[in-house]
Amino acid sequence: MKFTIASSSSANLTVTTAKSSCVVLPIFEKGKLANSTSEFDKASGGLVQKLIKSGDIKGKNAECTLLHHPAGMKAERVILLGLGDQKGSSISNLRKALQALFACINKTASKSVHLYFSEITVEGKEPEWVAEQAILAAAGSTYSYQETKSKKTPAPSFKQFTLVCDGKVSAAIKASVAQAAATAEGVAAAKELGNLPGNICTPSYIAKQAKALARKSSSLSVNVLSEKQMADLGMGSLLSVSAGSKEPAQLIVMNYQGGAKSKAPTVLVGKGITFDTGGISLKPGAGMDEMKFDMCGAASVMGVITALTELKPKINVIGVIAAAENMPSGKATKPGDIVTSMAGKTIEILNTDAEGRLVLCDALTYVERFKPAAVIDIATLTGACVVALGAHASGLYSNRDELAAKLLSAGESAGDRAWHMPLWDEYKEQLSSNFADLANIGGPGGGSVTAACFLSHFTESYPWAHLDIAGTAWLSGNAKGATGRPVPLLMNYLINNAK
Ligand code: BES
Ligand code: MN
Ligand code: ZN
Repeated sequence: MKFTIASSSSANLTVTTAKSSCVVLPIFEKGKLANSTSEFDKASGGLVQKLIKSGDIKGKNAECTLLHHPAGMKAERVILLGLGDQKGSSISNLRKALQALFACINKTASKSVHLYFSEITVEGKEPEWVAEQAILAAAGSTYSYQETKSKKTPAPSFKQFTLVCDGKVSAAIKASVAQAAATAEGVAAAKELGNLPGNICTPSYIAKQAKALARKSSSLSVNVLSEKQMADLGMGSLLSVSAGSKEPAQLIVMNYQGGAKSKAPTVLVGKGITFDTGGISLKPGAGMDEMKFDMCGAASVMGVITALTELKPKINVIGVIAAAENMPSGKATKPGDIVTSMAGKTIEILNTDAEGRLVLCDALTYVERFKPAAVIDIATLTGACVVALGAHASGLYSNRDELAAKLLSAGESAGDRAWHMPLWDEYKEQLSSNFADLANIGGPGGGSVTAACFLSHFTESYPWAHLDIAGTAWLSGNAKGATGRPVPLLMNYLINNAK
């Protein structure tokens, strides 16, 4: 989709002169007509007032009234978008309204949409934030998975989205439109990779995609480590996960260099289990198909790198993906097996289904060589996190409160929230083993916390945060599919941090 921002004072962009498939104007439950809506009302001989009087339009939040070829307008359609109280929407109400709006638009054959958004206000938020939300919602509304269907749904007609503001287009709005457009690309890339089945999206497939991305961008270079190279580095923990699979593990290193070489990079590490059967500690059959989504952390890293190659900010980001398939077989790791990690710590694998932490710990040791400013790992790590936070927030853990605070506010503003969880020593004690330095599971209580505690043993040398996205990375049920989270959170963090 193409996104533009323009001023309503341009000759061909006033409400009545805009040549658009669909002009969107706000309407409120209380208060008077917005200037843009009032212009339309006058041009159409009082149509808006008539509709209000008749009771058909109430201005309730998310109410969408679609009008075809109204008088006095160049546009083919007008949608009056209900936003509730004129004094301002809440964040969640605005999102609901935008969702309803784009659902309504996508039912029409509209190609271009012009949203007059200057009078849409949300408490505590700048206009550029409203613009960003509108772009992410518009882009999200047109994604649909098609790759492995023989009968493809026709591509959506909605291809051009123009945000129209009163007065001058500010630099802040321009920047936020560019960022949101790039983020939307990243979200779509993460969704697509996440949705692909495990028999297509293997560790080697992800490596191939990363290399293809590097060919398209001069600021991105990609290096993939083979199992042999990982063995030479002593990554016994990571390799214990792929041991049972015919698919070789891949450690994918993507180096986006937009800033000076001397500037310490931010490193993103993604869990890329392309299918998690549980291994010898086999998972129950029901719903196991959803374990193809166990690489959504990796997909979010790929999504962020995709967005960065689009936006080209002057920052340095290294994306690392620890990709492997967790399978049972005669060569698979068994409960009770003890492996040695790259850091030299021995690990007793009491449950082969706690494999995410086993691939991540070696990747987290590997990234020390980049002397990172900060390391953030992203992983569909524990079912316990889904129990704790459901689908609304990712679990956030960090060894630096300042880093945690930045990530929390980046997620809050992106509508891609996280919640700060503890890493107390009391939880760490649950990981003791009679036979090794660490056990890979910490007993029945606090499963998301003990998983994060396990990782914390490998991240002492740098500022680190961990996002457990087990509940947020995909939806189940009728709307089953990857969400592209937490690409918006991460993009906001990276860009805010560069300012
Ligand atoms: N990939 C799963 C976590 C998961 C489960 C994510 C369900 C989303 C939904 C992870 O590898 C796993 O199996 N974790 C185990 C850990 C346990 C054995 C300590 C879990 O959560 O049950
Ligand atoms: Mn598992
Ligand atoms: Zn897993």
